[in-house]
Amino acid sequence: MPSSTADRRQIMAADPAATSALGRALGAVAHAGDLVCLWGELGAGKTHLAKAFAAGMGVTETVTSPSFILMAEYRGRLPLFHIDPYRLASAEDALAGGLIDERQREGVTLVEWPERLGDALPAARLDIRIDGTGDDRRSITLIAGSDDYRRYLEVAA
Ligand SMILES: Nc1ncnc2c1ncn2[C@@H]1O[C@H](COP(=O)(O)OP(=O)(O)OP(=O)(O)O)[C@@H](O)[C@H]1O
Ligand SMILES: [Mg+2]
Repeated sequence: MPSSTADRRQIMAADPAATSALGRALGAVAHAGDLVCLWGELGAGKTHLAKAFAAGMGVTETVTSPSFILMAEYRGRLPLFHIDPYRLASAEDALAGGLIDERQREGVTLVEWPERLGDALPAARLDIRIDGTGDDRRSITLIAGSDDYRRYLEVAA
């Protein structure tokens, strides 16, 4: 069935604190095996939201954008795998064997710049699209790629 309004939810985040509150709420309902993709241009707030998502998963370490490694791993209630391929030319090649390996099925995989991964992106995922940059408020759209991911839409206020 094509995506209906029940598959997506759009909210306005007036300031960085509102983006963080959303990220924490989403991280709190994360399940093992989830794939979450963060779409948005430079400075949209992807990493800002990723940090809050991690906090919502109980990660206490500081989440940074890994510049020279494909994937960083953090420990929370579940393991968190953070992929930010922005500066990696060959990210698609590196993930040619598949985006999610056995280890990642035990945790949550959070991807910034998912457009860099091309065909490696499975359809069952949560998409988070952030529109707006600079000091502007952000429009944040959540799209559930399968029924299981609708639980994220329910906690987005
Ligand atoms: N709702 C919001 N309103 C205004 N500013 C916000 C909002 N949410 C986040 N920001 C701000 O957006 C800025 C950029 O965030 P961030 O570095 O996370 O962007 P990014 O998408 O990861 O960019 P890049 O792709 O360059 O890494 C941060 O300074 C953050 O405070
Ligand atoms: Mg970033």
